[in-house]
Amino acid sequence: MDLRSDAVVLFGVTGDLVAKKLFPALYELTRRGRLDMPVIGVARSRWDHQQLITAARKSVLEANGRVDDEVFEALTRRLTMLSGDYADPATYRRLAEALSAAERPLFYLAIPPAVFTPVVDGLAAAGLAGRGRVVVEKPFGRDLASSYTLNEALRAAFAPERIFRIDHYLGKESVEGLRVFRFANRLFEPLWNAEHIANIQITLAEGFGTEGRAGFYDRMGATRDVLQNHMLQVVALLAMEPPAAAGDEAFRAEEVRVLRQVRPLSPETTVRGQYAGYRLEPGVAADSNTETFVATRLLVDSPRWAGMPFYLRTGKLMPGTATEVVVEFRAPERDLVAPAGGGERQPNLLRFRLGRNDGIALSLQTKEPGAEVASRTVELPIDFDAVLGHRREAYERLLDDALDGRHLRFAREEAIEQEWRIVEPILDLPEPVASYPRGSWGPAEAEALAGRWHAPTRR
Ligand code: BG6
Repeated sequence: MDLRSDAVVLFGVTGDLVAKKLFPALYELTRRGRLDMPVIGVARSRWDHQQLITAARKSVLEANGRVDDEVFEALTRRLTMLSGDYADPATYRRLAEALSAAERPLFYLAIPPAVFTPVVDGLAAAGLAGRGRVVVEKPFGRDLASSYTLNEALRAAFAPERIFRIDHYLGKESVEGLRVFRFANRLFEPLWNAEHIANIQITLAEGFGTEGRAGFYDRMGATRDVLQNHMLQVVALLAMEPPAAAGDEAFRAEEVRVLRQVRPLSPETTVRGQYAGYRLEPGVAADSNTETFVATRLLVDSPRWAGMPFYLRTGKLMPGTATEVVVEFRAPERDLVAPAGGGERQPNLLRFRLGRNDGIALSLQTKEPGAEVASRTVELPIDFDAVLGHRREAYERLLDDALDGRHLRFAREEAIEQEWRIVEPILDLPEPVASYPRGSWGPAEAEALAGRWHAPTRR
């Protein structure tokens, strides 16, 4: 393994991502003795050291409900602040001075797309890129063409093995668990195809709105924000063929291969929605046509999946927060047992809960008690917290990996490009988005897209 980085530089330290995810991750790494290095926060806002510490404490408190003073003290001893303009070479000269003792700094770019290139160029001009690693957050561009441009800028400054592209879903234990579920169990693999599965649904629902980042969100929309990246990564894990060999390399290669087989999404089988009142939010254009909801049908052109639909939907201000995959199996070949009470026949469903309350549930038919032989649906639930205990958060795992130079859980450049190719036909559609009531499952048109959506069970 490569040598561990010996400093962390957080560009965009005053931003939303650092507050929500990165401070708590740094705190956990400190607790586990994995952060014995300086952490420099960089931002355009003029923050002093005390403001930085106050912000860090607030975010740890919000994430954990409590702060362990000893751990937090250890973290604050590492933290320093550097304010400066991203386009000003002096910012990078000061950074180079602050990093004079560091041989292998890790630069984490938690910054808006518009300042990506100036920061990368600034690091290169100051001679910092050559010895450092860089972590880039999404969005990786706005479309395929801009993702190429972004990659060129990155590769001009950093060697490919020093670039780490975050898709934090790849850092979730539950998402990584799909690989184990599929390839370490014999049980479902023979059924894992269009012959036995009717459809696969993926819902990434959020019970909240844009939460103070409406200005940013309005330039993104749901397709760019989560469908192009997180949801397509989940599709790849569900749809991929077994890798040619054990090990991470073969696994990643197979994941990219299946993405190449995904057909571009079609506007005809896509429904875009916007929650009522969105346009009144500060930072949102009064005539915004940005989707806060998108539902679509996806097809994979492989023998395994030929013609079988994957239905994807995601939205803000849905009836709850949950990320769930539902695999709907086909009905038994012959109709030999009727449902109790003359109800509708229920398919076997396999659910993967990938968000909070992660776990698996399998719905089966069992005999309804009584004189008649009729079926009733029961659930076999597995709650990962109960059976597996504590698991580390995605950002903590990813930061730890990047510090060690481990690539496994980072998105491959080609995967990201394939993801842009897949979503491109549904980006920036001119047709007006359909309005939907807050707290609903999106516009009525979306309901009709899948024959029947299975709502997440725990929200
Ligand atoms: C982020 C998006 O990448 O993923 C957010 O920018 C979204 O809008 C978040 O809320 C969802 O991640 P998680 O881990 O909470 O499901």
